[in-house]
Amino acid sequence: MTSIDATRLPGHVAIIMDGNGRWAQKKGLNRILGHRQGTETVRQIVTVSRELGIRWLTLYAFSEENWKRPAHEVQGLMKLLNHFLKSELGEMQENGIRFKAIGRTWRFPVATRDILLETMEKTSANRNMTLTLALSYGGRQEILDAVAEIAGRVERGEMAANQITEQTMSDALYTSDMPDPDLLIRTSGEYRISNFLLWQISYSEIYITPTLWPDFDKKEYLKAIRDYQQRDRRFGGVD
Ligand code: FPP
Repeated sequence: MTSIDATRLPGHVAIIMDGNGRWAQKKGLNRILGHRQGTETVRQIVTVSRELGIRWLTLYAFSEENWKRPAHEVQGLMKLLNHFLKSELGEMQENGIRFKAIGRTWRFPVATRDILLETMEKTSANRNMTLTLALSYGGRQEILDAVAEIAGRVERGEMAANQITEQTMSDALYTSDMPDPDLLIRTSGEYRISNFLLWQISYSEIYITPTLWPDFDKKEYLKAIRDYQQRDRRFGGVD
């Protein structure tokens, strides 16, 4: 088994965490228990990322479309999120992890919004790694929000339409201060992007594993990173 090349780590890893429900169903458990186990995986993957020296980790925790789930499941996810943020604050501070949330988080209950803000504020000076949770996030919605903002600038005469560049767009997205993901991982075997970071993943390397998110452990994560390190990234050019 080849080991990890510390000089060729992905700077930014983004993960579509899928399969909590199926993991629970397979065991005859309530879906919420799948999400709870999924939260344990989140903890472990954050720790391993930090140990490896990954600088940016972005996790798709709740999509705009997830609001369509039954109210008790949405509430269960909010509870897990609140608990995760409160219980991990100490760990984040000790390990220099800055916390960020991206998405239409104003749709969340006020208690969750307060914890999100507090965690972002308290960890804002940390520099080792940035953990971003995509919450009430949708890639199309993000692009729409950015386009509306840029159109407003054009309307007010602050810039001309023909001055809009890729950089103008990147700067108007929720991820304006982040590099694009180098590696995008999706668990549970579905070959879909599910409205995640649509603009930002243009040149990301994609890794899909059939493993369900609650079973995605350190070994699986290292396998994904090793696979990434075998790739020849040409960004549309030639070697
Ligand atoms: C997909 O599983 C996962 C989600 C909708 C949310 C991910 C949430 C967690 C990992 C737990 C909470 C997160 C934090 C950060 C505390 P699914 O329910 O769509 O699985 P299925 O496709 O098998 O039904």
